[in-house]
Amino acid sequence: MIRLRGLRKSFDGTPVLQGVDLDLPSGKTTVVVGPSGCGKSVMLKHIVGLLRPDSGEVWFHDTRIDTLPERRLGPIRTRIGFLFQLSALFDSLTVGENLAFPLRENRTHSGAGFEDRVREALEMVDMAGSEHKLPAELSGGQKKRVALARAIMLEPEVVLYDEPTTGLDPERAKGIDDLVIRLKDRLGVTGLVVTHDIVSARRVADRIVMLDRGRVIAQGSFEDLVRSDEPRVRSFFEAAGHAASIS
Ligand SMILES: Nc1ncnc2c1ncn2[C@@H]1O[C@H](COP(=O)(O)OP(=O)(O)O)[C@@H](O)[C@H]1O
Ligand SMILES: [Mg+2]
Repeated sequence: MIRLRGLRKSFDGTPVLQGVDLDLPSGKTTVVVGPSGCGKSVMLKHIVGLLRPDSGEVWFHDTRIDTLPERRLGPIRTRIGFLFQLSALFDSLTVGENLAFPLRENRTHSGAGFEDRVREALEMVDMAGSEHKLPAELSGGQKKRVALARAIMLEPEVVLYDEPTTGLDPERAKGIDDLVIRLKDRLGVTGLVVTHDIVSARRVADRIVMLDRGRVIAQGSFEDLVRSDEPRVRSFFEAAGHAASIS
């Protein structure tokens, strides 16, 4: 459904992505793990055209999108939900207004039914009845849930999750993981989760990809990666403190 081919990107002469190849299978959750600063968020931004590669290709179905002009990216972006690392809710808008925002922005969804869509999306993330709250009244975990509800307002085929559990305690993190699984099971969403949280990765992943120094250095099931002979994969999983208890 989404394919990256030979993606390269440097900032001020410093290479960040150095030839990333990645395939997102439809209806599955792919998790990208890797050390902080290795280019995970930069990679996600290329998939929605917020960044353009120096070279390489980004494909969405049969459309090459890295070369599309901005005005033609708009319709593609409505098919891809993006949960940003910081929830990025509008602080002065209520939860309901935050959720209606993508509907108002998108002319194809104008008209009646806003309240119903908002209510359904809040139910999906177990936040029913919070329409009139302001973001400041929500906990960190609740903000993530609302941001996730907003990301699915236009019923995207693909949802990109940037560090969805970072900064949450283990119980709330598990709650978000459960939602990632629920969106896949109930809505058939193709997921791409970027994280350095190994517990979360194991829970949600159909497939794990490890990124290091701007390249994919391993991919497979969680167990495949835990048993990898590649030293950088080993040390990443050991540092996360779980290899011992899993292998
Ligand atoms: N817009 C930008 N301009 C310059 N440097 C950037 C930009 N975005 C990211 N970087 C740099 O690229 C590297 C990878 O960043 P990022 O993808 O955010 O890492 P992470 O894997 O933690 O998500 C970092 O060194 C970061 O400082
Ligand atoms: Mg990041």
